[in-house]
Amino acid sequence: MSTVKVEVLLDSDWAAGSLVDDVRRGLGSHPLRLPPKWLYDDEGSRLFDEITRLPEYYPTEAERTILHQHAAAVVEASGATTVVELGSGTSDKTRTLLDAFAAAGRLRRFVPVDVSEQTLREAATMLGERYPGLTVEAIVGDFTLHLSHLPPNEPGHHRVVAFLGGTIGNLYVEERAAFLGALADSLEPGDCLLLGTDLVKPVDRLVAAYHDPGGVTDRFVRNSLVVLNRELGADFDPGAFSYVPFWDAHMERMDLRLRSESPQHVRVPGAGLEVDLAVGDEIHVEISTKFRPAGVRSELAAAGFETLELFTDPAGDFGVTLARLA
Ligand code: SAH
Ligand code: AVI
Repeated sequence: MSTVKVEVLLDSDWAAGSLVDDVRRGLGSHPLRLPPKWLYDDEGSRLFDEITRLPEYYPTEAERTILHQHAAAVVEASGATTVVELGSGTSDKTRTLLDAFAAAGRLRRFVPVDVSEQTLREAATMLGERYPGLTVEAIVGDFTLHLSHLPPNEPGHHRVVAFLGGTIGNLYVEERAAFLGALADSLEPGDCLLLGTDLVKPVDRLVAAYHDPGGVTDRFVRNSLVVLNRELGADFDPGAFSYVPFWDAHMERMDLRLRSESPQHVRVPGAGLEVDLAVGDEIHVEISTKFRPAGVRSELAAAGFETLELFTDPAGDFGVTLARLA
């Protein structure tokens, strides 16, 4: 029999309160910006799941291949019995990792953390059914705010924190440093991090991955305005924007924006804001940073993590780094 517990660190009006702060900060200054965590309401989570199955969106399958090939090595090298997963979503690929821990008799506890409560609850229930004897301690929380709430190590045991999918690339460089520092503070020496990072590659493949012909990614990014309309009574007309994904060669990241196609006066009553947009004004919705192995290693080292291995798929598209807190 498995045990499934769900701890909710985001109270019911969290979305409203935190969204108001983010929107005041993000749309009240230039450049206009929205934090990407607001992309993942139920519809956004569904659209992201659709993105992971697009032929152009290579990261999911590349990371799955890596996990299949190297999960047993991760079990062995980490020596962990608790798997924490940040931004866990459906935990779909994570099953490969959990299977390897279970096969080695080392799977005691799984701690998925996500802001998207519905998706998290469904995943926690599914995993509880799949692994008899497993304790699932799911946390509805924000990985930029709530790392100090991770359950501590059981005496004599270690944790491995999986942060997959390349989600770390959605943080700006200064946010990444703060995140990795807070993660290190919340762990104990000997605990490990398993970090998925998308790698720099030719620009045509990158742009194709974020500009699919069926427009799924466009709908995913545009959904951020629907969230503002619903949660804050805003009157954005999502159809009055075009989706603009482009490669920022200097920062080595995809930059996903919404560009106003007409002069607009938008009211956001829930945030006490009115925003004027001229033709061509852009809202920065998401970045997706692409990494080089040396950069991953040095960002991890700056936070106190020693890189043990960087696994890649045969095409070298994606990297999964196993690092240990010194
Ligand atoms: N790890 C999965 C899902 C990636 S999508 C994969 O590899 O496919 C990014 C996930 O992170 C979503 O489920 C989203 O809800 C979650 N997320 C985004 N920002 C977050 C935050 N600040 N705190 C917690 N979860 C967050
Ligand atoms: C979750 N994250 C790693 C995705 C990415 O590729 O940066 C989010 C995404 N945005 C558009 N497509 C996918």
